[in-house]
Amino acid sequence: MKITIKESPKYEGQEVTIGCWLLQKRGSGKLQFLQLRDGSGFMQGVVVKANDEDLFAVAKGLNQETSMYVTGTIKSDDRSSFGYEMEVSNIEIIQAAEGYPITPKEHGPEFLLDNRHLWLRSRKQHAVMNIRNQIIKSTHDFFFDNGFKKIDSPILTNSSPEGTTELFHTKYFDEDAFLSQSGQLYAEAAAMAHGKVFTMGPTFRAEKSKTRRHLIEFWMIEPEMAFYEHDDSLEVQEQYVEYVVQNVLEHCKLDLEALGRDTSVLEKIKAPFPRITYTEAIDLLHEKGFDDIEWGDDFGAPHETEIANHYDKPVFIVNYPKAIKSFYMEENPEDPRTVLCADLIAPEGYGEIIGGSERIHDYDTLKQRIEASGLDADAYEWYLDLRKYGSVPHSGFGLGLERTVAWLSGVQHVRETSPFPRLLNRLYP
Ligand code: 4AD
Ligand code: MG
Repeated sequence: MKITIKESPKYEGQEVTIGCWLLQKRGSGKLQFLQLRDGSGFMQGVVVKANDEDLFAVAKGLNQETSMYVTGTIKSDDRSSFGYEMEVSNIEIIQAAEGYPITPKEHGPEFLLDNRHLWLRSRKQHAVMNIRNQIIKSTHDFFFDNGFKKIDSPILTNSSPEGTTELFHTKYFDEDAFLSQSGQLYAEAAAMAHGKVFTMGPTFRAEKSKTRRHLIEFWMIEPEMAFYEHDDSLEVQEQYVEYVVQNVLEHCKLDLEALGRDTSVLEKIKAPFPRITYTEAIDLLHEKGFDDIEWGDDFGAPHETEIANHYDKPVFIVNYPKAIKSFYMEENPEDPRTVLCADLIAPEGYGEIIGGSERIHDYDTLKQRIEASGLDADAYEWYLDLRKYGSVPHSGFGLGLERTVAWLSGVQHVRETSPFPRLLNRLYP
């Protein structure tokens, strides 16, 4: 019977075969302990010399990442967190690997990134991708269960929703085109057709940023909701984030353990989340001795971290100055210098994971903002049409998948949260 490691608890006491790779091994003169991995999980295989000397010799000669079919009996094992191991009775080598470059010793990040195609196999990298996968699944579950439809926005576009300096230019036959910075504008059109929608896709920022929070290519989840004012959107955001965090805690226990993640801090992530205004945040920073920032400046990573450290949950910073936010954001009627927007700042220094706002729904105001931002109004004619034919108040937001993975996994750098990260100066592998 051929099974996967994940299925092995159902086969306790039975002899089964598992297609797997050798992660590591250790042993004595009498026993070999094989750390096996098959993609679905990790399990120890035990080879006893006294039972079969030939098999013991084969096990002793196995190199890291050798692929094989291992046959044996599944036993419960209280010492491992997985809870099961295999008493091995046969090993059929498929391909004997030699000189696998990623050994159990420490390697530098550049070496590991050069070998990303292999590094993905490591225990911790496997755990991070499992957490990413769970976030993707929980995202679909949350939005589908709450009446949202998934709308796929294009990657080749003619618009620049988040500012022209970070655009990736390309040719679309004879026309100029850009790689999508955000699916938002298309999600807005879809919301006028379907009410509540979300997009999930790759987005591109030609930013020259080399920080632990920036990727050139990252995935964004962008819900958009017709008839939602900004406060309604904040409620969706905190419920969505709570749902994702609690699902990761429930379904990724072994992964969080492999990463050494402190889960007690994640257990506290329950809605509602605190809200402070941009102006209050500036005052708080001044009280804390940050003299380098004035009202009107955007926050840098140290500012966001300082603000987040006052809370044990993500915090919404609302109503940023109009001048530092995107052209489509609705003015705050209580303070026209600011807009109806929020950034959600994750705890523990992981920074902004969501940016969102209420969108301008008046035709003239939006047209004027497009022109004032130096954008080509002709390219936005279709976007302006949404304000011409049955315009309604609407709001939405974008959650950065990789920053969320980094936060929940507890890894320090977003380069470990994308299967094949695109970084400044890195397009390989
Ligand atoms: O704040 P941003 O730029 O917002 C938008 O793109 C809006 N159109 C979203 C919307 O309202 N529909 O990006 C949203 C999120 C950020 O909070 C961050 O989590 C992530 O996307 N993000 C990045 N993640 C990794 N690398 C980068 N260079 C990122 N830039 C933004
Ligand atoms: Mg932002």
